[in-house]
Amino acid sequence: MRIRPADKGDLTELHRLERAAFGSHAYPAFFLRQAWDLWPSSLLVAIETSAIVGYVLAGRGDADEGWILSLAVAPQARRMGLGRRLTEAAIDVLASQGCRRVRLTVEPASAAQALYVSLGFVEVEREPDYFGPGQARVVMSRG
Ligand SMILES: CC(C)(COP(=O)(O)OP(=O)(O)OC[C@H]1O[C@@H](n2cnc3c(N)ncnc32)[C@H](O)[C@@H]1OP(=O)(O)O)[C@@H](O)C(=O)NCCC(=O)NCCS
Repeated sequence: MRIRPADKGDLTELHRLERAAFGSHAYPAFFLRQAWDLWPSSLLVAIETSAIVGYVLAGRGDADEGWILSLAVAPQARRMGLGRRLTEAAIDVLASQGCRRVRLTVEPASAAQALYVSLGFVEVEREPDYFGPGQARVVMSRG
């Protein structure tokens, strides 16, 4: 398995993964296209035998802060350490761009929280109704 920056030709498959992972909360395809323009070096794909099996989208925000905006692993490739490797790779790219703090949004009941805690993220905020009425978000921060 290798991790590399996404090509424009990867975006259709990335959106398929995004929809499979997040359903009605998935980013639209045109947002991923725009993200590729904005953050080409921190939109990363994981490749296994020439197939995309996961991706992470991160971007530098204000000053020394970056955000991880999406992380998804194909169902058949989960629980093999790929989510961890993609998150670490995104943190490394953001660090190389001068980001000392990384933040992200996660759903309150998401299994991904354990992954982020194991990488040093802590909960810093809960925002009600973020994903819709009664659907809060948890903001986690590292650094
Ligand atoms: C969350 C997700 C990216 C994890 O990817 P993954 O490749 O399976 O993750 P890893 O194998 O690297 O697991 C890392 C840690 O995450 C936690 N974890 C991952 N999936 C878990 C699950 N289903 N239940 C409980 N803990 C889980 C564990 O702590 C795990 O460490 P361990 O295997 O040593 O116990 C993947 O499940 C996914 O794509 N889910 C749908 C989209 C999503 O929720 N994305 C995160 C948005 S914030």
